[in-house]
Amino acid sequence: ARPLRDLAAAKGKYFGSAMTVSELEDTQNRELTAREAGVITVGNELKWDATEPSRGQFTFTGGDRIRAGAVAAGQRVRGHTLVWHSQTPQWVHDLPADQLRQAMLDHIAAVAGHYRGKVFAWDVVNEAFEENGSRRQSFWQQKLGDGYIAEAFRAARAADPGAKLYYNDYNTDGLGAKSDAVYELVRSFKQQGVPIDGVGFQAHLLLGAVPSTLQQNLQRFADLGVDVAITELDVRMTLPADSAKLATQANDYGAVARACVAVTRCVGLTTWSLSDKHSWIPSVFPGQGAALPFDAAFQPKPAYRALATAL
Ligand code: XIL
Repeated sequence: ARPLRDLAAAKGKYFGSAMTVSELEDTQNRELTAREAGVITVGNELKWDATEPSRGQFTFTGGDRIRAGAVAAGQRVRGHTLVWHSQTPQWVHDLPADQLRQAMLDHIAAVAGHYRGKVFAWDVVNEAFEENGSRRQSFWQQKLGDGYIAEAFRAARAADPGAKLYYNDYNTDGLGAKSDAVYELVRSFKQQGVPIDGVGFQAHLLLGAVPSTLQQNLQRFADLGVDVAITELDVRMTLPADSAKLATQANDYGAVARACVAVTRCVGLTTWSLSDKHSWIPSVFPGQGAALPFDAAFQPKPAYRALATAL
């Protein structure tokens, strides 16, 4: 069968996967990902705790290793993520507002500057909204107020003018209060000339629960004049997996891929790792898992075949 990266490319899209250094060191995983994925999203190594553990001390070792692996496999790289409330060192949380703003600008300049021309897209700001559509009351929001998101995007554009700049979030895949809030953010950015190029829909989904409005939602963002992408797809189930659950999961994967294919400005689809061996789900959602297209022994699941059919 043809690799997903080739099937997607024939439709003008990409198929991608997240990758971490430990996943890269797993030879079977590295080879599978090289075969199937045309795009790599850096899973953890470009987050603030990895890149600037203490103020002004930048380390790009992990990110550079992932990028080197991607170059070797002929893959493009998505940067993830510059401004987030999670996986950010305590020293950032503890700064007073004026210093926090400067630290954010310095961080973006250094990290996006290091990868200038080397990543094709950045998740500039991640997960800034609550489920009800209000701003998440993170330390960013509490100290800097509403304007920090626009400031982050302007700083990212200055640091890497060629990169596509994304806002990325979860539970925004279908229509609803949270996606309405992101929609309004993008609409206002476009109106005010704040540089934004795309919206990432994480799509960390529950079994049998692909939002029926996914395609409609992707399309309304595209109609604002931005690209859209499925950025962190997985479909988790209560363990153990069985053939009925795997069949439902295959339907879910197919539905997500078909929605992206149906929207011209949906540029691609990324899963959050490829194999259940490396999924983040079991550690964060106890009793849940089996969320990815390959099982823990790197064998393709029905979800893989559904992706291949849809792409
Ligand atoms: C996850 C990683 O996969 C884990 O290894 C880490 O412990 C926690 O973060 N939304 C995101 C990703 O934007 O960065 C998260 O990645 C999963 C949820």
